[in-house]
Parts: sequence; C-alpha cells; structure tokens
Amino acid sequence: MLKADHDILPQTTHDECARLEFVKTLRAHLSGKIMPGNYAVYEERVEPAIRKATGESPKDSTQVRKVMEKHPYYQFWSALQRRSQELMWDSAIDTTERQLPTLIEKFRSYRSGSRAVKGSLRLNPDVQVPRYNSVHDIHIQPGGYHTEQAPEDDVAAGAIFETGIQAYGWGLNLGELLLGFMRSTWPDFVPKRILDLGCTIGSSTVPWAQAFPDAEVHAIDVAAPVLRYAHARSEALGVPIHFSQQDAEATDFDSGSFDAVVSHITLHETSRKALPRIFAECRRLLRPGGLMLHFEIPRGNTPIEQFMHEWESYNNNESFARFMTNIDLCSIAQDGGWKADEVRDALIVPDMPGAKKNYTRGDVSFKVLVGEHS
Ligand SMILES: C[S@@+](CC[C@H](N)C(=O)[O-])C[C@H]1O[C@@H](n2cnc3c(N)ncnc32)[C@H](O)[C@@H]1O
Repeated sequence: MLKADHDILPQTTHDECARLEFVKTLRAHLSGKIMPGNYAVYEERVEPAIRKATGESPKDSTQVRKVMEKHPYYQFWSALQRRSQELMWDSAIDTTERQLPTLIEKFRSYRSGSRAVKGSLRLNPDVQVPRYNSVHDIHIQPGGYHTEQAPEDDVAAGAIFETGIQAYGWGLNLGELLLGFMRSTWPDFVPKRILDLGCTIGSSTVPWAQAFPDAEVHAIDVAAPVLRYAHARSEALGVPIHFSQQDAEATDFDSGSFDAVVSHITLHETSRKALPRIFAECRRLLRPGGLMLHFEIPRGNTPIEQFMHEWESYNNNESFARFMTNIDLCSIAQDGGWKADEVRDALIVPDMPGAKKNYTRGDVSFKVLVGEHS
C-alpha cells in the first residue's frame, strides 16, 4: 500500500500493514457509501422541514447545522468519520515509534556527510510556531507538526504524517495537480527559483523540483520535525530541495528573488490575520512577471455542502477552515498589496480516480488563488 517508497519511510510489519489497510478501506467505505446518505437525509427530511417551518430553503450552513447535527444518521457518520481519523494516527504512530531511532539515524546520515546531499536544511530554533498551529493538534494528529517527540533530531511528526496520509484516501499529489495547472495555463513559463510555503514533508514540493531540474527550489515550514523528515525524504528520493524553518508571514529571502511562490493546502491552516501578511510576503518575494499560486481545498457551493465541509473545523481541529467558506481570497490579497487586476480565482477539477469525496457529492474541484506580479 505504500505509494512513495523511499529510505526514510517507516516500514510496516504484516500486522501494521493490515491495520493501515483496514483504516484506508474504512475511510473509502465512509466516503463512498455512508457519507452520501447525509445528502439524502438533507434532501428528503431536513430541507423540507426547514422550508415548512420558515417558508424558505436554508440560506447558510449555520441553519443547516442546527437541524442536521441532531439527526441520528449524521451523528452515526460523524462518529465513524472521527474514529477513522483517530485510528489513522494511532496506526501511524505505532509504526513510527517502533522505528524512530532508526529513522533519526538515517536523518543524521544526511546531516553528518556520511551520505551525499543535493539539497539543504536550515533550522532556526528562534522561529515561533504561530498560535494557530500550536493551540491544538491540527486534524487531531497528536502533537501536530511541530512537537518534538525525541530529545534531538526528531523526525516523528513527518514520519507519522506520511504513514498516516497513505490511509487518508486522497490518492492525489497536490504538487502534480498545481504544476499541471501552471503548465496548461502558462506553457512557456520556466521558473528558475521556486518557493513552496508550508511544505510539511515536501511531498508536493518534489514534483516541482523534478519538473524544473535547472531551478533552485526552496521550501519552508515553521515546524522542525517535519522539515527534518522532508530533508531526508527528498535526499532519499534524490531530489535537490532547500528546506528552511521560516514563517511564511515574514521570510529572510531577498525581495524579488523568486519566479514562482506556491502553496498546497496551507492557507486554511493559518488565520484571517495571517493571510494578508502571507500574500504581502509572496508579492515582496516575487520578481515582476512572477507567479503566486495557492492551492486550496473546496469548501462547497450550497449550504449543505458547506455544512459537510465544515465538519473538519468542528470535529477535526481544523479551526480556521470553516472561515475560508465565505472569504474572498482575491480581496484579502489586495489587502496584502496586490493590485485588483493581478489576482483571480481558478478551479482545478482533477481528472483522476480516487479524488477525495469525504464531504462532496459529485466531482471534487480544488481552488487556486492566482497572482501575476505585474
Ligand atoms: C496542511 S499542511 C500543508 C501540506 C503540504 N503543503 C502538502 O502539500 O503536503 C500545513 C503546513 O503549513 C505549515 N504552516 C502553517 N503556518 C505556517 C506559516 N505561517 N509559515 C510556514 N509554514 C506554516 C504547518 O506547519 C504545516 O506543515
């Protein structure tokens, strides 16, 4: 079941593999067979009841929530969805903990020079993990991205993340999707310096570095354990990437030093205050003619779809995600100094099986905030 096989990836025993496969299958069953029943409950019972009581269809997800949360079918799906997320991390943690000393040794072998390296890793213990990251365990991964689980050179959060997401059910590489969007929209654009914001384990950064082997590719994150893992991972894959521990709201890179600044599902894990700062930093970092591309998850177009997506905020510690439902990223980018005619929204509809349908009936489409620095 392990998709991106490489030297730093925790290896599963037979039983651990069976357990992760169970979680993956449970999640697929929930999204494919159980989740759609929520839409049937809404259409056949909840929406008619609200219309009867108020004389009109629900206007927003708050109105839907008041009724749906009391429905036993929704409660049944929601409890199983939450449990599948807990099982996913439980399984990934057991596999990682068993091998943590070996994984740390592998990381050290890239740091000590005993193995050749193509990229680099720059850690800065003075970087503050923003409160929106540290206040709770995002998507209930115990310790989140930043908690050090070993006294030195810890890579646990990265190893847990990569092991866990293989049971998550995306079946997609977001870097490949955004790269495909960029290539089809600007076929002649060949960036020489690329920056990925909030890279976690660098799995979305790798396709950019592979697609543009002559480019210098940088990736930043605030969390040291995932960056250590990301560095060892990209070296194990033989892909040169320069990782550094930095806050996307204010980096130490020179102004105008990048051709492309990208992110993949990072924005919805920040905050309303952080967004204009991040967009301002992107504009500062780009040379004139450079591209900003932020890939984000869909939030739904109708009150019931939005209610379903907001499950992540209410039950999975993705606190800020629900505030992304109704905000206009283009206007926030303008608060960050972008001109109105430089920014726009775009959609990516993946032509791939296995696209995540946890909350959406029908095709999954992703959003992209595009900024073209004039
Ligand atoms: C959902 S993950 C991103 C996933 C990753 N881009 C991928 O495609 O697999 C969000 C990441 O953003 C990082 N992050 C959140 N706020 C940040 C900030 N202000 N600056 C840099 N990284 C940040 C978190 O530590 C976390 O690793």
